[in-house]
Amino acid sequence: METDWNDHERKAIRKIESAVSSPELEDVRVLYLGRKSELALALRGVRDPQTGALLNGIRQRLEAAAEARARALADEELERRLRDEVIDVTLPGEELPLGHLHPITQVRRTVEDAFLGLGYEVRDDREVETLEYNFDKLAFGPTHSARSPRDTFFFDADHVLRTETSPSQIHILEEKPPPIYMVSIGRVYRRDAITATRYPIFHQFEGLAVDRRLTLADLKGTLLHVMRALYGPERRVRFRTHFFPFTEPSIEPDVSCGICGGSGCRTCKFSGWIEMGGAGMVDPEVFENVGLDPEEWSGFAFGCGLERTAQLRHDIPDIRALWEGDLRVLRQF
Ligand code: DAH
Repeated sequence: METDWNDHERKAIRKIESAVSSPELEDVRVLYLGRKSELALALRGVRDPQTGALLNGIRQRLEAAAEARARALADEELERRLRDEVIDVTLPGEELPLGHLHPITQVRRTVEDAFLGLGYEVRDDREVETLEYNFDKLAFGPTHSARSPRDTFFFDADHVLRTETSPSQIHILEEKPPPIYMVSIGRVYRRDAITATRYPIFHQFEGLAVDRRLTLADLKGTLLHVMRALYGPERRVRFRTHFFPFTEPSIEPDVSCGICGGSGCRTCKFSGWIEMGGAGMVDPEVFENVGLDPEEWSGFAFGCGLERTAQLRHDIPDIRALWEGDLRVLRQF
């Protein structure tokens, strides 16, 4: 059947003008103007000028229509993208999740601040110690139980993981002459099984003051200052007698319970007081071990656990919480 070219053109124009997207328009264009379109095939078979003029005219008009429609669609699409892809630069940015310091580090910083305020220097020492510094120069007797491999991690016959921060006392006394006011903070190690109250790795802070005419009263005032920095301004401090190899006299300081205010609760075992660690006046033997004259120099020292301090500050019943790295726990402090 003969093609009705006028009808063909009308249909093509209608399709071109109703195309709603560039891909759809391209399909229509291929259908009516492509190399295999009815129009292209007819043009290739043209024998007379009249038909040639008619078909060429149709082709030109269809091409013009397709071009116009393509431009209109491109404009529309640009318009739509400008509308939809608008970026509001005034909107607040996405918030990055921020962590915070571990409770042990928080306590450590509080201790550092409290001592820096008193003019102390802060130091950290080696965690692998010789027996000489961990025990001998601190006047531990030859049969002290801490010297046993059952209590202490040995590397070889001479080297241990330090069992306390007290060796820092010897190091600084050998490094420089008094007066000395220092606090040493770091990890210590003991061969304890892991329980709610013990962990084989923990932290201590160790203070040492060496000067002329220091007394137990200076020690008490210093500890009171630090305990108040850690637990609040209402805290009181008391001493109980005790024994440590490197202090004479030795005492154990207690701080009044910050949870019940001293009236008695579960945390302080209904005594109103909480044990803080060990302390005392530097033993003359320690002075002699580092070549200082005990008649000329006096000093006091103290050592406390950081985990215990963090537990008391935040009422954390189990020490393991501080070592397990469980964010659900740590986020609370
Ligand atoms: N080093 C002792 C301990 O770990 C604590 C201690 C006691 C430290 C008396 C001192 C001190 O500086 O004078 O149990």
